[in-house]
Amino acid sequence: MHREIAKGVYYVGVDDNLTDLFENLWKLPFGVSYNSYLIVDEKIAVIETVKGPWSEEWLNNIREVVDPSKIDYIILNHMEPDHTGALPDISEIVPNATIVYTPFASKIRHSFYDIPNPEKKVADLEELSLGSKTLKFVHAKFLHWPETMMTYIVEDEILFSCDAFGAFGSLNGKLFDDEVNMDLVEKESMRYVSTIITSYFKFVQAGIKKVKDLGIGIKVIAPSHGPVYRKDPMWVVDKYDEWSGPDMVKKCVIVYGTMYGFTHRTAIMLKKELLGHGVDVRLHNLSYSELSQVITDTVRAGVLVIGTPTYDAFPYPKVWGFVNEVVGKRYPKRPIALFGTHGWGGGGVKKLRTQLENAKFEIMEPVIRCHGRPKAEEIQQIKDLAKSIADHLK
Ligand code: FEO
Repeated sequence: MHREIAKGVYYVGVDDNLTDLFENLWKLPFGVSYNSYLIVDEKIAVIETVKGPWSEEWLNNIREVVDPSKIDYIILNHMEPDHTGALPDISEIVPNATIVYTPFASKIRHSFYDIPNPEKKVADLEELSLGSKTLKFVHAKFLHWPETMMTYIVEDEILFSCDAFGAFGSLNGKLFDDEVNMDLVEKESMRYVSTIITSYFKFVQAGIKKVKDLGIGIKVIAPSHGPVYRKDPMWVVDKYDEWSGPDMVKKCVIVYGTMYGFTHRTAIMLKKELLGHGVDVRLHNLSYSELSQVITDTVRAGVLVIGTPTYDAFPYPKVWGFVNEVVGKRYPKRPIALFGTHGWGGGGVKKLRTQLENAKFEIMEPVIRCHGRPKAEEIQQIKDLAKSIADHLK
């Protein structure tokens, strides 16, 4: 299936409703789309391919508009295989089409794919004429990899923004922001940003500034995942700006693991105290909450609380894994509170503290360590911690 976006500009992407986990990590309850666009002018260009298994469907979408063997340029905004997996298949059909990308992308292409196509490495803001339409290439470092760029059609004012401004969720025959359920798009965009792009928030901010500073008109934003924005393209830009910005949300999220209920009991006591202070508080038991949702809820929480039992002298494995995400995704800095329970040694909380302090997070006091169930001293510490969290969030 194809859809016309502007005269001579078509959506030819595909839906993936089969893959359970994006990057084999993040749940896709509503699927995902791999967006690709075709520009038919005196020269013909295709922007992005799709993930490998969807190659035939994608080529058939192109065939509805043009014979793929007539394609002159394959524009690769990003080398990640959800965008380039079908490259060997199109290369077989049109081995002379010129691949257009950044110099960094060229290195990755030669490592990933053994194909004969010629290449054109474009500089930042370089232009390429297709006849009546001019393409301008805007380097967009770390959105989402270091080789990434965006492509802009000068005459139509359409920005093909690649992973930036994307969303999880397949399109199911709809395409534009005025056709889809925007409540779901907002949730799935936030989950996409939180899981895929949190590490690169400063590059999101830099990318938005760069595009705004170019002073170009933007009538349409066409990302590589999720809907195309024609009704209100700035909606998604403003959302990305907010989600990647420095302001935390005035809420507290308690994330914990528990084996026999002592840590759970401590979490519930803390939640009750926080509610008493009027704090917006949410709880995630890592054995049951889905990790992408935990990350989405915590990435901008004004205070994050992490609770763990000690397990093999380390934090509980699911908690340890979550803290590695907090550190690895370079969560924006905000205070983190810790509590834990142990049967004898209590190494879990100590190791969490070391890991988070090494990553330059401020640890709130008191850090609560319960030998088994919380007793009078720890119950007082829970009250004190709740007060400190409430004061911080005021
Ligand atoms: Fe959609 Fe970074 O790949």
